[in-house]
Amino acid sequence: MGYSDQELERPIVGIINTFSGFNSCHHNFADLIEAVKRGVLSHGGLPIEFPTISLGEMFTAPTTMMFRNLMAMDTEEMIRAQPMDGVVLLGGCDKTVPAQLMGAVSADRPAICLVAGPMIAGDYQGQRLGACTDCRRFWGEYRAGRLNADEVAEIESRLCSSTGTCMVMGTASTMAALAEVLGLMLPGGAAIPAVMSERRRHAEATGRTIVSMIKNDLRPSKILTQQSFENAIRLLMAIGGSTNGVIHLTAIARRLGIKLKLTDFDQISDETPVIVNLKPSGEYYMEDLFKAGGIPVVMKALEDVLHRDAQTVLGSTIGENLSAVPHPAAWQDVIKPRTAPLFESGTLASLFGNLAPQGAVIKRSAASPDLLTHRGPAVVFKSLEDLHNRIDDPDLPVTPEHIIVLQNAGPIGGPGMPEAGYLPIPKKLLRAGVKDMVRISDARMSGTAFGTIVLHIAPEAAIGGPLALVEEGDLIELDVPNKRLELLVDDTVLAKRQEQLVLPEPHFQRGYGLLYTQHIEQAHLGCDFDFL
Ligand code: FES
Ligand code: MG
Repeated sequence: MGYSDQELERPIVGIINTFSGFNSCHHNFADLIEAVKRGVLSHGGLPIEFPTISLGEMFTAPTTMMFRNLMAMDTEEMIRAQPMDGVVLLGGCDKTVPAQLMGAVSADRPAICLVAGPMIAGDYQGQRLGACTDCRRFWGEYRAGRLNADEVAEIESRLCSSTGTCMVMGTASTMAALAEVLGLMLPGGAAIPAVMSERRRHAEATGRTIVSMIKNDLRPSKILTQQSFENAIRLLMAIGGSTNGVIHLTAIARRLGIKLKLTDFDQISDETPVIVNLKPSGEYYMEDLFKAGGIPVVMKALEDVLHRDAQTVLGSTIGENLSAVPHPAAWQDVIKPRTAPLFESGTLASLFGNLAPQGAVIKRSAASPDLLTHRGPAVVFKSLEDLHNRIDDPDLPVTPEHIIVLQNAGPIGGPGMPEAGYLPIPKKLLRAGVKDMVRISDARMSGTAFGTIVLHIAPEAAIGGPLALVEEGDLIELDVPNKRLELLVDDTVLAKRQEQLVLPEPHFQRGYGLLYTQHIEQAHLGCDFDFL
């Protein structure tokens, strides 16, 4: 390749390039890599770029979640297999950041995150548009007959107005923010829009920083502690972050032997108000958060409840980094004061009960307050296909009081735990003006979605979890204030149903799908493979 010995004696910085023509969010990587290389070279390192698989939400079937662990393995093994002293993890789209963190934590060479950055917001007739919270809203309007095909096509053409990741507080924004608070990304790096010159300067600084990290042997195992994860959970709640953050953080922590429980999330949730006013919980977009100072200012607002001595890629602590950061400015509305938050506390709640013995999750801040305590009869769909075939049937016996139940959409049943938990409201109810209903499943939900939606029910239906036992018309009780999800059916009846239960046929007989099915763990354990 033409490297002289003299060049190869410098610290070698691997840069993981997850550009892909099938990943719409990673199209600015050539620019970012050039900037990283400048930083690495100016600090005396030798940058060498290499590929791993790339996971784009839009064009990966059956679901990117099925391949997160594959990407984590690819990342870990390629960092370890190739002669590099440290690595820049260049990701962005939802599953890429957790996959890279899981892999990098296990490989344990000096590593730093750099993300694509969010898209800038689009607009339609004076309304701002963001993928994909506004897609869902307008798609609902279209299904209800209030928008025509041309109007919805025009909106669609403006939803993704630049390269970058979804610009609401979806999973990509959430995971970028968590990488930052974990101390694995330079301060401020999560919110800079993909297309701004500031992002290139940040990439350059990332290149300089990884060289220092190599010189100081600053590895993930020296940065991450239980406290780092508690900080991350705290931030997850304060930003109104994605429910997927629960699964990913759990998986990353378990790579270090730190066993986060759903109740840990719950406890911090209960004492942390949502202060970031971004969709889907609030009204703004990532570019607005950036202009308000980004995640460092959010952390500043939380400073007294964060573990200030947690370490960062800079070799300094979070407290030291925050000393120069201003408090949220009075003029802006994006980061609210804790005394006047967007949502009092508990954006995420974990639920337990006979329907979810290992737990389930609900995003309260994106739910309808009047449905948080609700008892109603179940309308049950056995699979995604069944849902698709019947949900809009005019004869479906369903009222706004019903609870829509989807079975067999978990890690094994989905397969891959698809983001199908945002179950559609039946067309006939939409037309009658119904905006929200209680919906429950073992699936996940896009971080950009909203509604009274219970997710991640564990154990899942496909392995015989109690969700599989729900039958049409059974009464279900959701009681979020008391963190309960109960199937109001007699134990003896349930025991009988369990005996007669026939599990669905496995999806895979060979290949990665078979490996996945044999080793995937349930949602409350982070959906990692049991051997990782
Ligand atoms: Fe990549 Fe939303 S599709 S972040
Ligand atoms: Mg998403």
